[in-house]
Amino acid sequence: MAKIVIQGGCPLEGTVRVSGAKNAVLPILAASLLAEHGVSQIEEVPHLLDVENMANTVAALGAKIDWKGTTVRVDARSLYSVTPPAELVRRMRASFVVAGPLLARFGEAMIALPGGCNIGPRPVDLHIKGLEALGATSVVENGFVHLRAPRGGLHGARIYLDVPSVGATQNIMMAATLAKGQTIIENAAKEPENVDLANYLNAMGARVRGAGTDIIRIDGVDTLSGATHAVIPDRIEAGTFLVAAALIGRGVYVENALSHHLMSLIAKLEEAGATIEDRVDGIKVWPCPSGRMRPLDVKTHYYPSYPTDMQAQIVAALTVAQGTSMVTETVFENRFMHVAELQRMGANIHIEGRTAVIDGVARLSGARVTATDLRAGAALVIAGLIAEGETEVHGLHHLDRGYDNLVAKFKRLGAAIERFEDIGQSAKSVG
Ligand code: EPU
Repeated sequence: MAKIVIQGGCPLEGTVRVSGAKNAVLPILAASLLAEHGVSQIEEVPHLLDVENMANTVAALGAKIDWKGTTVRVDARSLYSVTPPAELVRRMRASFVVAGPLLARFGEAMIALPGGCNIGPRPVDLHIKGLEALGATSVVENGFVHLRAPRGGLHGARIYLDVPSVGATQNIMMAATLAKGQTIIENAAKEPENVDLANYLNAMGARVRGAGTDIIRIDGVDTLSGATHAVIPDRIEAGTFLVAAALIGRGVYVENALSHHLMSLIAKLEEAGATIEDRVDGIKVWPCPSGRMRPLDVKTHYYPSYPTDMQAQIVAALTVAQGTSMVTETVFENRFMHVAELQRMGANIHIEGRTAVIDGVARLSGARVTATDLRAGAALVIAGLIAEGETEVHGLHHLDRGYDNLVAKFKRLGAAIERFEDIGQSAKSVG
């Protein structure tokens, strides 16, 4: 089994460049299915398991995919299937966003229902309700949902989302691009990744207005064409480096990070004592002068509030703060699996309902820990960087889903970190 081994305590210094955003690339690849003409060129695509999965899903429907470095060309002119392979959809919940594009372009989609996942049940009821409001019918059978558009195609509708679901907003927005008339999504998700998706759709010829606010208006058009689009930087990858640098940096420049996507995190890091400087094409961060963060009260919520995807990393940081912190998770149930692993490293945390109460300790100590989901994995790497002694992080398939070259990037900043791929009995370092 692969593992990351970290000798804690090495200060981080220098520059790290953030890759394109995973959670923007995934729906953008799905949106490429809408292009009846031309070829799309997506730039700044990170090399991640989830992106590979989505590219394979789109390819399995008949699209031609061509990778060159961080650019992916997608030719979706002649698709031959409306049923993405169930094993790909079950492996990655985000594949469900191919439903909207398939339904809009072909009037039909047959998608495996994603199962539960490590961060809670995560249903897709709002996606289906939204598509039904556009005129689709849905039948659930043998673990699949079969969606069908009415004879005349989808039509515009006014849709209020009970919660501002990121994925449901994406699915409805994509389906509505080819529907007849106007669609209005109220209480839409405002995440930057959805704005990026809307910009890509508009470059393809769609008419989407208001993305980034809680009311999105989409005027349906007849056809869409491939377009060239550069994906926004990954704010969660950027945030992960900001947190590590605020703990153990000697001045780290997080290049390509966009501060206006990271306001809530930056405010919290400043409150904890770090110094953050917004520069033209990135963010520079220095740690708290006292060497330890001040305690924080953090509550996750939908954008622009503090992101749930940065919850595990801030919990790891606060384990060594000077006092008691509270971190409340309001977006997902069951997203505190990293707490048990951090406790193995000496963290003093207890869970009260949806809140982690963290009593800062002087130091963590290295241990063998296992990532239970993507962001939990990032939290354990941060914990390993600040802990005394050696930490082994297992469960790397989670990290590979969402961090492009994490080990190499931390290594370049001066961390004593290695990745080992197990080959039989001997472990081979891959840097
Ligand atoms: N929800 C419903 N019904 C639905 C859809 C969502 O009840 O039909 C609930 C969920 O159970 C959850 C809340 O609404 O409690 C928010 O879920 P949302 O749909 O917004 O999340 P998502 O689209 O499944 C995306 C990101 C997640 C990120 C969340 C919240 C992608 C591929 N995934 O998920 O990213 O945590 O938004 O910001 O964009 C990650 O990158 O590690 C990750 C988990």
